[in-house]
Amino acid sequence: NIVPVILCGGSGTRLWPLSRAGFPKQFLSLTGKESLFQQSVVRARALAGMDIHLDDLLLVMHEDHRFLALDQLNATESAETAHFLLEPVARNTAPALTLAALQAQSSGEDPILVVMPADQNVAERSAFTEAVRRSIRTAAQGGVVLLGIPPDRPETGYGYIRHTGQIDLQGTWEVGQFTEKPDLDTAQRYLESGEYTWNGGMFVLRASVWLAALGKFRPDILELVRSAWEKRSVDGMFTRPDQKFFAQVPSESVDYAVVERCPGSSFPVRMVPLQAGWSDLGAWDAVCQVNAADAEGNVTQGDVLLVDTRNSLVHATYRLVSTVGVDNLVIVETPDAILVADRSQSQKVKQVVTALQQQK
Ligand code: GDD
Ligand code: MG
Repeated sequence: NIVPVILCGGSGTRLWPLSRAGFPKQFLSLTGKESLFQQSVVRARALAGMDIHLDDLLLVMHEDHRFLALDQLNATESAETAHFLLEPVARNTAPALTLAALQAQSSGEDPILVVMPADQNVAERSAFTEAVRRSIRTAAQGGVVLLGIPPDRPETGYGYIRHTGQIDLQGTWEVGQFTEKPDLDTAQRYLESGEYTWNGGMFVLRASVWLAALGKFRPDILELVRSAWEKRSVDGMFTRPDQKFFAQVPSESVDYAVVERCPGSSFPVRMVPLQAGWSDLGAWDAVCQVNAADAEGNVTQGDVLLVDTRNSLVHATYRLVSTVGVDNLVIVETPDAILVADRSQSQKVKQVVTALQQQK
């Protein structure tokens, strides 16, 4: 059996001021009616079919977002077959996935986890379904499977997967090396070599494989999360690990804690290419790119009036926003904060949030 896991505990700081601590980006509608979280749920459910039986959906997130997520879930589907794992503090993705693996194994079985981030746009759902189905066959045999996205720029915010060119019967590629968030020179080299794909942030593997790999590479994380799990409290659809133990868990991502160390170890990694119009909506520039622009290259949301404006994103929440004679800007208006940024520097919005946190 298959357990879809959606990781939705990130903070999305580069999409400030729309994305806030109380309302992070995965719960925003950035590409249309549904939020990224809702789209992820639909994408996960669509994996069911012929030979694939899905168990309950596992949603791992911060305690504070449970009702936001529940409301959005109810607007999309019946929340009856979903289970919430609520973190008292964010400890990045390795502890979050460990909670999901422990919960999945509590049925007494060893399900295959299909781990999906909640902050992405996938334009073609059927290509995604097909790639995951292929991954499941390889994961059933004990492999760690990643979905690889063909890269088109030297992005430094992603993981890079080097394949060796060896393809198995399932059509999965052998992975020789995994590098999380390389520097720009390295990313440029990887791009030019043609041997790398981006890590799409989706992982398919058995619960026992994750726990064994974490136990090998980061036994400290496994031990603390297990203690937090053993002392958990269960309240209907909400499960909460013990706060005291969970707070002691080191903050580490799946990629750094485990995946980087897997190639060449006793935990072989394989890659399935995914060509499905994938985009990680990391910063405002990416939001511009996935939304249809008008003839001047502008993407507008809300009550806006543009004169002689090009290649800009203008988002109005409450007030009329108008621009005259500007190019390549991101303008986001909210009740208590307004962002005006050079679109090509939208990654730096994170620095605003860091500065604001320091002021507190
Ligand atoms: N439950 C939970 N708890 N979820 C979390 C936490 C946490 O503490 N931190 C992050 N997440 C969720 C985010 O909401 C997101 O959906 C997903 O986990 C990935 O986290 P990010 O913080 O967005 O990771 P990233 O974008 O820096 O890097 C990952 O994704 C890239 C592709 O988008 C890595 O897997 C990279 O290798 C990959 O290329
Ligand atoms: Mg991300």
